[in-house]
Amino acid sequence: MILITGANGLVGSAMIREFARQGHPVKALVRSRAKARALEAFSTVELVEGDMQHPETLANALSGVERVLLISSPNLQMVETQCTFIDAAKAAGVRHIIKLSGVTTSLDSPFLFSRMHAEISHYLEQSGLAWTFLRPSQFATEYLREVPTIVTERAFFLPFEDAKLTPVDLEDVAKAAFVLLTTAGHEGKTYMISGPEALSMAEIAEQISLATGSSVRYVNISSEERKRVQREAGMPPVVVDALDVQSRLRRLGNGEEVVHLETHMALGIRPTPFAEFARRHAADFLGTSAWAMAQKELKPPLDLRTLPSA
Ligand SMILES: NC(=O)c1ccc[n+]([C@@H]2O[C@H](COP(=O)([O-])OP(=O)(O)OC[C@H]3O[C@@H](n4cnc5c(N)ncnc54)[C@H](OP(=O)(O)O)[C@@H]3O)[C@@H](O)[C@H]2O)c1
Repeated sequence: MILITGANGLVGSAMIREFARQGHPVKALVRSRAKARALEAFSTVELVEGDMQHPETLANALSGVERVLLISSPNLQMVETQCTFIDAAKAAGVRHIIKLSGVTTSLDSPFLFSRMHAEISHYLEQSGLAWTFLRPSQFATEYLREVPTIVTERAFFLPFEDAKLTPVDLEDVAKAAFVLLTTAGHEGKTYMISGPEALSMAEIAEQISLATGSSVRYVNISSEERKRVQREAGMPPVVVDALDVQSRLRRLGNGEEVVHLETHMALGIRPTPFAEFARRHAADFLGTSAWAMAQKELKPPLDLRTLPSA
């Protein structure tokens, strides 16, 4: 049996939808069944409740599980949450953990979350369990966070200058995770996965304009301006500072501009261009979809977890 953690989150729910699409049985770990009603619609998905920080709550979730896809929220508790879970999984007889992190994962990274992912990865490598690392680039869904100003000002505002990034469609990542979880031979391997093109923010704006049939501009802003907007949206100061470091690294070129199609090729997945993602989400970018209209006055932070398809 396979268990997916963080199943009610943005990434985890995309994974669950892929398992449902494939008609493959899977257990979905959620903290609250009441908040995960959307997952109950899938007949091949078994919802299990538990808290990854509290091993005593995980017995049912881990019973009979051989492989796990390890995901939790990108917050300051991430290392504690995932390392506690790794110990619990090992004690319960899990054999193999596939850890989702990011392309910039490194113990030396100045970006807090890349370091945290690296710490967890190191812990997993030392655990004695079989491991596989799935490392996606920036998700294409990140641009849906910019919907408020795209709708009101036909522009989005970021401090990335002319840096290029390689946004990946979460559906591609979910397809990769499905293969890694359901086929043998991936132990001890790292899979980097990105979108098929390196795009500047001006090019992303052009793709959104084409998809929506309405001109959208990219406007470069200062780090200070970005931090002000994030603070006003209620983001914790330590996260604001971490994202500021990430922006600086992106401007300098930290490897996120490198296209990684080796995982698509190895696992037989067609890479989704950003243009296709933008067309699929045209109504979201225009603010006319049910998802966009359900966001409170289209004010940040938007809830990407409620996207019916990521
Ligand atoms: N954004 C990007 O471009 C990008 C790129 C590459 C990698 N990543 C990585 O992707 C990962 C997943 O992100 P996401 O956006 O899917 O996060 P998310 O929407 O916050 O989802 C995380 C899920 O983990 C669950 N969770 C957190 N703590 C838990 C605990 N103690 N016990 C049980 N469940 C717990 C949450 O449960 P609740 O629903 O109960 O809160 C939530 O459903 C992050 O590690 C991030 O670093 C992001």
